[in-house]
Amino acid sequence: SIVKVAFVPFIRFILWKQGQQQHVTSISELIENMDKKATWDRFYTENSSSNFKNFEWFFGFDSVRDFVLPLLQPQTRTATPLHVLDMGCGTSALGPSIYQHSSVQVTVTCADISPIAVRLMREHVAAKAIEPHHPLSILGFLELDCREMFAHFGADELDLIVDKGTTDALLRSKDGSGKAGHVVRQCLRTLRGSGRLLQFSDEDPDARLLWLETEGREPGERPAQVVVQEVGELRGVRYYCYQVTSPPVVELL
Ligand SMILES: C[S@@+](CC[C@H](N)C(=O)[O-])C[C@H]1O[C@@H](n2cnc3c(N)ncnc32)[C@H](O)[C@@H]1O
Repeated sequence: SIVKVAFVPFIRFILWKQGQQQHVTSISELIENMDKKATWDRFYTENSSSNFKNFEWFFGFDSVRDFVLPLLQPQTRTATPLHVLDMGCGTSALGPSIYQHSSVQVTVTCADISPIAVRLMREHVAAKAIEPHHPLSILGFLELDCREMFAHFGADELDLIVDKGTTDALLRSKDGSGKAGHVVRQCLRTLRGSGRLLQFSDEDPDARLLWLETEGREPGERPAQVVVQEVGELRGVRYYCYQVTSPPVVELL
């Protein structure tokens, strides 16, 4: 199978570590296990051996801020603060940066299947004492398998879900399309009416748009609405932002 350029740093890193320990796993085996807690625990453990540094898949907050911040508009109908989820946050600075830069009150939850990543993020943020732009904003970290999203959050809870590389990791794992589709449907159910799911990915629109429209649909319902924008080109690879919303509810008279 074709190894996407985006995975190269991850694969190179793990193979290098494994090479040192005289234990080699094949690249296809690594990719097949990108949905596994153990794969990422190992990655974040190895990465944290020296001083903590945020690890960014694809790119950091500055590349995506113009896709994210305009979606955070003050609520007119309810007093509840906006709830933003970074799904599969890893040790990325995306969630903390949204907390830091949103002028609108937000509760930002950074969730990951890897308890190692979650602990590193908690420790890092506590040590750095990051201040929010809005004084009432909240930042929290959560160990969560996104396949259990709906059981955890329930319906109509989230206003924005950002996903930088997590669906890509699930999709490329073994039997990934079914697993990732199940997660997308759960995401849409946890979103409030006007809420959005943003996926940052290197997957071509030809493939991802069709997949999202098909997989984002509950049986008997209309397809999810998907809009794609190009984020930019980095080292010869094009990146996209897929914005997904639930199909509008049809009012019965
Ligand atoms: C490609 S990395 C992206 C990390 C981060 N979003 C970033 O931009 O650097 C995929 C992340 O998804 C997490 N992950 C994989 N499967 C998951 C699952 N089932 N539930 C929650 N997180 C998961 C991994 O631990 C990893 O941190």
